[in-house]
Amino acid sequence: MGISQNEQQSISDLVDQYKDLPGALLPLLHAIQGEVGYVPDSAVATIALGLNLSRAEVHGVVSFYHDFKTHPVGRNTVQICRAEACQAMGSRELEAHAKAALGIDYHETTADGNITLEPVYCLGNCACSPSVRVNDDIVARVDSARFNELVANLGGSQ
Ligand code: FES
Repeated sequence: MGISQNEQQSISDLVDQYKDLPGALLPLLHAIQGEVGYVPDSAVATIALGLNLSRAEVHGVVSFYHDFKTHPVGRNTVQICRAEACQAMGSRELEAHAKAALGIDYHETTADGNITLEPVYCLGNCACSPSVRVNDDIVARVDSARFNELVANLGGSQ
């Protein structure tokens, strides 16, 4: 998917701003995500050129850090824990329910742009599995009914 001219311009401006700083790549990626909301694939070439890196190096860093999004995200992010403790307490059933209820798979966003669903690997809340993070809040012991409530509170479709 293409990005708008404004977004492309913002990315070029940020590259100019950061390119002479030592260790510019990470702060630049954060700045782009802060401004555009994600790091578009098409930004990789601009960043590589500006920072005198290969595209593979830039791509490697973007994909290594899970905080960087490479696609537009919804107004809310819901993450379901897929690590062991949560799986033992039913997170597989929960994720199947979540995908069906929202009509999307992981890394996708509902058609109304409200919710992006992401997997996560341990939220540090294993004693109260299965755990879900809704934006900045970690929610414990989430079953299907609780999930529906959480989504309803976000004001979007289920
Ligand atoms: S395994 Fe899910 S919170 Fe740790």
